[in-house]
This record gives sequence, C-alpha cells and structure tokens, in this order.
Amino acid sequence: MSAPPAPEILEYGIALGCNLGDRLSLLHAALGALAGLGEVAAVSGAYQTEPVDCAPGSPAFLNAVAVVRSGLAPREMLSALQGIERRMGRPDGHGRNTPRTMDLDILFAGDRVVAEEGLVLPHPRLHLRRFVIEPLAEIRQDLLLPGFVVPVKTLLERLDSTEPPLLRFAELKPVSDKPGDAEEKWAVFSAIKPSGRQVVCLTAGDYPTARLLDEGGVDLVLVGDSLGMVVLGYGDTVDVTLAEMIHHIKAVKRGVKRAPVLGDLSYHTYSTPEQAVATARELVRAGADGVKLEGGVAMLPQVKAILAAGIPVVGHIGMLPQSVREEGGYKKKGKTPADAARLMEDALALDGAGVKAMVLEGVMPAVAAEISKAVKSPTIGIGAGWECDGQVLVTADLVGAFPWFRPPFAKARGDVAGVIREAVAGFSKSVRETGAPNDG
Ligand code: KIV
Repeated sequence: MSAPPAPEILEYGIALGCNLGDRLSLLHAALGALAGLGEVAAVSGAYQTEPVDCAPGSPAFLNAVAVVRSGLAPREMLSALQGIERRMGRPDGHGRNTPRTMDLDILFAGDRVVAEEGLVLPHPRLHLRRFVIEPLAEIRQDLLLPGFVVPVKTLLERLDSTEPPLLRFAELKPVSDKPGDAEEKWAVFSAIKPSGRQVVCLTAGDYPTARLLDEGGVDLVLVGDSLGMVVLGYGDTVDVTLAEMIHHIKAVKRGVKRAPVLGDLSYHTYSTPEQAVATARELVRAGADGVKLEGGVAMLPQVKAILAAGIPVVGHIGMLPQSVREEGGYKKKGKTPADAARLMEDALALDGAGVKAMVLEGVMPAVAAEISKAVKSPTIGIGAGWECDGQVLVTADLVGAFPWFRPPFAKARGDVAGVIREAVAGFSKSVRETGAPNDG
C-alpha cells in the first residue's frame, strides 16, 4: 500500500489585531496558538493603530502580520483561526469593526486564488490598509501576491490612505519549537525597557503553569526557589536543593517556547565564583536561559564569573529570602538613608557588571523608583511599589493556589484553591452517594 501524499505546505499571511484587554499579551497568545497550526516563519513588530471604520471612542488596536507555513487547506485554516478567536474570547456573530480581543484574517495562502462564500484570497482589502500592508512589508517586502503586478513594498509606497502613521509598539518573535535560541530571547527582553513598556515576570515550577504563562505572553518565566514553599511545602527557600531546581527547570522548559526561562541558584550553591559557575552551568544544562542569584556588591565576583562563562544573570537585591533565617524574618529594605545608599550601590554594581535585569524585593517604593531611574537594566519589583520597570509575582499567590499564606502586596486574581476544594467535594459526594465519578 502506498503512503498517502504529503499535504501541500502553503505559506499563509495572517493579520492579527486586537483592541481589548492586555493587547500585547493577547498577540503573544495568538502567536502561540498559530504555532499549533504550522511553523511561524516570520512575524512583524506590533504596531499601534488608530481604529479605522469603528465606532467613535473605540480603543486603539495593536496589529501585526505573521507568516505561517502550514499543511492546512485554506478552509481548514479559516476554521482553525475562528477557533482561536473564540478561545481568546471573541463571541460568535461579532459585528465587523467592533472592539475585539483577537481578530485573525488570512491575507493570502501561497499562490492560491480563492473566491468562495466567506473566503476570498488574497484578502480583497489588504492593499488598502496601512495596518496590514506596512507590517507585511516589514517581513515580506518582495512578495508578489497572486493577482498583483507589483510587490508588497510597492503596494506600501503607493498606498493612498488617510490613516494616521502607525506607531511601532513592541517587537514580536516567531514561536518555534527549536531550543537554544536564548540569545534571541534575551534580545527581545532587553528591548522592553528602552521601548518604555513594563516587564511582566511570573514564576513557574511545573509544565502546565509554565505553558500557560508563555501562551499568556509573559516576558520572563522565573523558576524561583519560592517553589520550595508553594510546590514542595518547605517553610522557606533555604532548604531547596540544586537537584530540586534542576528537576523543576526541566519541567518548566518543556512548557515554554517563547520567553526566557530564568532559574534561581539555590542557597549555598554559589558560595564561590567557581561554585557559582558550576551551578549556573547545571541550570543551563537543565534548560535555563539564564540564572538569578541573591546579593549585590557582596556577590559581584560570582556575578562576573557567571557572565564571563557566557551565562546571562539577573540580580536580586533588597529583601533576600535565602537570608531569612539569619535576619530573623522578612524585613523591608531601604528604610534609612544608609540602607538606601547601600541598595543603590548594589544596583549600580550589578548594572555595571551587565546583568539582564534585577529583582528589587521588599524595597521601599521611593528607593526602588530612584534605582529604576539610575540603572540601564530593567528593575523588576516585588513588594517594591509601582515605579520599577516591571513586576514579578509568585504565580501561586497570583492565582490563589496557596491559601495558607499570601504576602500582603500580592493580590490574588483567582481562587485556584477554592476551585480544587469545590471539585474535590463534588467528586467525593458523587462517588460516595452513587458510586459514579460524574453527576447525572
Ligand atoms: O523565588 C522566587 O520566586 C523569587 C521571586 C519572589 C522574585 O525570587
């Protein structure tokens, strides 16, 4: 029996647009979903555009164009895109040009010309819209679309449109299954502070959480040693071992395609520069794209040694959880002028060494704000006010998965513990009363 013919791979142009919710995260999430339909071969930057033909007062859009190589036929691609739009919160029968969480349009499908009910390719208006043709020209300027006599760059030059100029809002990156592109991931990360956008970092210790964070568009996934408390049940982070960090980094890495994965050096594994480099290498072998360690000036030799070994480092100053036993508790930092000056010295030393970012934990907000202005690398605050360059939270605190303790600055935006308790109670009742695992 002969094998079925391989499906024809078509190069699709897909326009992405959204003007509700956290638009950049939604674009990242849509790119993650497109990667499930084929190879995301190229993606333009995200452009902020004023709404065209929309109701007055409609919020501004973020638009981008991606090129996806896929074995799906155009009709299959159309229904796959509609499925993604629905999963991302777009209701069925949504009117044209109304605000939306995600709009995905096929612009072209290789050299196919299609004129069917509900599907016309190339898209009949693609050459009339700056928010489509400009991002497309960024990634496929020489493309000659079927039915056109000039390439995309000329369509852009000849565009006769009253649309206001597009504002380049952020860089986007194709989602790929290929490991090892840490450098590229850090390049995208490092462009965030200069662009004026805030960094979003969350922790993960397992595959599903990591995958959800990455699909949700976070900028940095931290395998923090706080997992010792919220995953492993220790009283603090001091007992977390290197073997445990490696185990959890491997699980997280399997779930993350896009954001850099940062691994914490656990306590007592970076006492000397040599030990720090050896430990950092172990974390990188497990899948970390960089490592984080606690301490400023005192840890500079370790930071420099790890950087010299070619491994990206994120610093962590202020309240240092690994020192909780020596300090006798979690204490706010930067309360006195001398303490604030010490923190600034730590921050400048880390910045000068070339860290990718630094966590400011439990630092007085005014001090955190001063440091953020003084350093080039982004500051990522936790319990340090709102004037840092970004924020990090322990995801278990964010989603309400660890109901026995939550720091006062961490707002729970979910009740995962409540959902588990309710599901356990429902399942138990059903099994005990009827013997069946499901009601009804
Ligand atoms: O371990 C961790 O999760 C951390 C964050 C709290 C910054 O270091």
